[in-house]
Amino acid sequence: MKVLVVGGAGYIGSHTCVDLLNNRFEIVVVDNFSNSKPEVIDKIKQITGKDFNFYEVDACNQEALEEVFKKEKIDGAIHFAGYKAVGESVEKPLMYYHNNLLSALVLCELLDKYNCRKIVFSSSATVYGVPERLPLTEDCRLSTTNPYGTTKLMIEKILEDLYKSNNDWGICILRYFNPIGAHSSGLIGEDPNGIPNNLMPYIVKVANKELPELGVFGNDYDTKDGTGVRDYIHVCDLAHGHLLALNKLAKENGLNYYNLGTGHGYSVLEMVETFKRVNNVDVPYKIKERRAGDIAECYADATKALNELGFKTEYSLEDMCASAWNYVVKNK
Ligand code: WQD
Repeated sequence: MKVLVVGGAGYIGSHTCVDLLNNRFEIVVVDNFSNSKPEVIDKIKQITGKDFNFYEVDACNQEALEEVFKKEKIDGAIHFAGYKAVGESVEKPLMYYHNNLLSALVLCELLDKYNCRKIVFSSSATVYGVPERLPLTEDCRLSTTNPYGTTKLMIEKILEDLYKSNNDWGICILRYFNPIGAHSSGLIGEDPNGIPNNLMPYIVKVANKELPELGVFGNDYDTKDGTGVRDYIHVCDLAHGHLLALNKLAKENGLNYYNLGTGHGYSVLEMVETFKRVNNVDVPYKIKERRAGDIAECYADATKALNELGFKTEYSLEDMCASAWNYVVKNK
């Protein structure tokens, strides 16, 4: 199966490319480096010892992306090419709606035109909004509270309508929980530009003395220690979930949604303490006000992915913390 990986130089995309190549998939990668770095392409080749074609293309550019379809015999695609910072989406909604929606529409139109109607879409647990119940199952109520999350929900609806219009489509919608960590080689990892929005990259920068201290956004939630609880999943486990979704699409068409999480929730303070213990580093922090839009607790019921895809996570929280730090140490 030759898979078009749209956004393959990004954090999740690059780890997925490594897993696919290591499992004898043929891939073609497109990326415009708007939220990734060109050297990642060579790092993927270095890790796997495999070669593949890369095209520097903006997925919103239908003419440019169609050139790739003309040159490559694509069997299916994974769409990673979305902006993903919640706060930025509130400040710049048009940028988010334009990029995230148009890239998905362009890709689906070309997959349809070239008769390769198989897509794995990178969605997010953020589509559940304030959880109806915990752990979250795929049939839980959907609601979004920011433009980033709304783009994900809109694309889910587009894909649902697409499947209703033509059952020849094979569509897997993967709802990520909180991906963290890095490949064991230390060659690829999470490398956000500027001040990180997310917890783990922020902790890493504090441990690396690039930032003075971590602000813990609230300790008065109704959770085990008052701080926010999330389902952190190792990026390599998440990457493998995409391979399993492709295996399913190779066998059958259909429209399916899957939670990709560990099923366990960890608090901010648990993350800080685990990171310090595993890596023998200090992470000074200060309790601050809650962050607007945050929910108290969110973690997955990943039973459906286990039963239908054979998805089960292999990495522990300690592995996630150690690999995130290893990436920094290896790239100082
Ligand atoms: C985790 C916890 C914060 C930073 C978002 C998106 C989701 C996905 C991941 C893209 C919360 C606390 C954080 C900090 C803190 N994005 N925190 N201090 O908000 O669960 O999810 O990012 O795929 O779709 O919604 O992740 O890492 O920002 O926050 O205390 O400096 O850490 O309050 O409890 P979140 P996060």
